[in-house]
Amino acid sequence: MVNLKTAVGDLTLDKPGMVASGIMDETGASMVRMLECGAGAVVSKSVGLEPHEGHANPCFTEVRGGYVNAMGLPNPGIELFREEMAEAVPHGNIVGSIYGAGPDDFRSLAISMEEYGACAVELNLSCPHAKGYGMEVGTDPDMVKRIVMAVKSSVDIPVWAKLTPNTHILPTIGMAVQDAGGDAVVAINTLKAMVISPEFARPVLSNKFGGLSGPAVKPVGVRAVYDLSTVLDIPIIGVGGIMDWRDAVEYIMAGASAFQVGSGIGIDGPSIFEEINRDMECFMKEYGYKSIESMVGIAHE
Ligand SMILES: Cc1cc2nc3c(=O)[nH]c(=O)nc-3n(C[C@H](O)[C@H](O)[C@H](O)COP(=O)(O)O)c2cc1C
Repeated sequence: MVNLKTAVGDLTLDKPGMVASGIMDETGASMVRMLECGAGAVVSKSVGLEPHEGHANPCFTEVRGGYVNAMGLPNPGIELFREEMAEAVPHGNIVGSIYGAGPDDFRSLAISMEEYGACAVELNLSCPHAKGYGMEVGTDPDMVKRIVMAVKSSVDIPVWAKLTPNTHILPTIGMAVQDAGGDAVVAINTLKAMVISPEFARPVLSNKFGGLSGPAVKPVGVRAVYDLSTVLDIPIIGVGGIMDWRDAVEYIMAGASAFQVGSGIGIDGPSIFEEINRDMECFMKEYGYKSIESMVGIAHE
């Protein structure tokens, strides 16, 4: 018998695939729908202290191999998000994604997410297109340590830190999370990117640059997970360009205990989770893997 159950530290998921933050997870109804489509958990859209409009249009464009977006973290703010969480939480595992400018913001947001019933909190230390937030705080190991420590000392739910690939010190940042008591790292957020219109002779996005996601980033994500896995003892969650079971298994064999799918939902639709679950089970049966755990990190051997 093959089992798709997996543990991310203290949190056990019936299925290893989660919805990545920012795709089909802005409302209670969309989060419930994704749980019904076979996701083991849904990570909410990143939420901040106050309502935030995000960047002006155009803030999203397709490229070969994925998307470049500069949404700029639009969200209703933590107070209003209470209602979306109340709708979704009774239906399954909802991870609350939060962003802030420093330890105090993150602490306060995490306390609210715990109160709303989130099964874990994911710290967005990695958005590449939000001034003063995301990767601007997440590429400084001291700041990362202070943020994770502040959150860990304030909530009892697991604390995950989502990291950026836009740095040459990713393992150092992963270590900062671990040293601060973080329960898991999530890798990767989008790669800083730009698209220019030859006709207009200008960048396409209003913010000029954005973040690349989708199939084009998968080898970067797999490498990031592999690198992190050589230095960390805490669990790793892999994300970036996953479109099918093969992609998911690559991440797992690189060292991920679970994975997230974002752009794949936009490209293939919400049925992507059922398909990955079914096809991964077939692969595991054929190759004699009885559990997800038995595949985690085996590419290192
Ligand atoms: C439209 C869009 C919005 C996103 N919003 C967020 C967000 O709010 N918080 C976050 O941590 N990541 C956000 N991401 C990044 C994704 O969660 C994910 O890390 C990244 O897209 C790579 O995975 P993918 O290739 O499966 O999309 C967003 C990505 C996209 C495409």
